[in-house]
Amino acid sequence: MKVLITGALGQIGSELTLAMRHRYGTANVVCSDIKEECPPGEIAEGVYERLDVMDPQAIAAAVQRHGVTHMVHLAALLSAVGEARPTLAWEINMGGLFNALEVAREAKAAFFTPSSIAAFGPGTPVQLTPQDTIQRPTTMYGVTKVAGELLCDYYFLKYGVDTRGVRFPGLISYETLPGGGTTDYAVHIYYEALRQGKYTSYIDAGTYMDMMYMPDAIAAIINLMEADPHKLTHRNAFNVTAMSFEPEMLAAEIRKHIPAFTIDYQIDPVRQGIANSWPDSLDDSAARAEWGWNPQYDLASMTSDMLAKLKGKL
Ligand code: SER
Repeated sequence: MKVLITGALGQIGSELTLAMRHRYGTANVVCSDIKEECPPGEIAEGVYERLDVMDPQAIAAAVQRHGVTHMVHLAALLSAVGEARPTLAWEINMGGLFNALEVAREAKAAFFTPSSIAAFGPGTPVQLTPQDTIQRPTTMYGVTKVAGELLCDYYFLKYGVDTRGVRFPGLISYETLPGGGTTDYAVHIYYEALRQGKYTSYIDAGTYMDMMYMPDAIAAIINLMEADPHKLTHRNAFNVTAMSFEPEMLAAEIRKHIPAFTIDYQIDPVRQGIANSWPDSLDDSAARAEWGWNPQYDLASMTSDMLAKLKGKL
């Protein structure tokens, strides 16, 4: 097994790279990103490739050079940045995915790429959103995620590429900050709770979204990639979730550790609009049944761990 991860210096990739190196061996996981240099630290101990996913020849050359058998394609723009720069979001999210899938097809490599809760829209049932349901997103990010799910299905059906994917909710982590999503408030709030004892949220009280702590997200990727293909009916778009909460619930949980913590609100209409168009909670029973999805962290255990780890870091 030889893995290439694109966008590997981002929020997911920086932790996935280390987890996969731990599991498959440092020499067997190639970290790649558009950044010129790999930052110092543990991640720099393995191979780093500077890779622009808009350059198909460069991806193909890296795959060939390292004898890659598994690709994890993470390079993408998130929802809020996508609304600010829709053309670029289309180009990177669709063009980059297409290039990476073409390389996987030629190299006969297995392929994982994440979809998102953003693949749903205002017409989708909001509570316990079913696995198979209406998907009419109203953001450019969401449009690219639905199209991406379909494109991955196509590469499996037409060419037999072993494509797999999950619809991630908001991901909360302390290693690397998320890059311009709608759910980022649920990460920032922990930093500000420790730094300032207060947080001003751009997402309104009462706005529920699905969330997940990064260790569960990493486990989801590894477990799905290792799952028995015969059991996978919903290859490219498994609903996965670990919890659903709104800002007041998160603030109340933080207050159990930092009693003086306060939250107030200054709503960003763009990100609030995006959040309003997404589900309140997902039904992840297909992932549980088909490959044993079983998240370990809830709001309480995530909050204890986040605050402890961040305290050390800050
Ligand atoms: N966390 C992502 C975002 O907010 C959702 O996939 O854009």
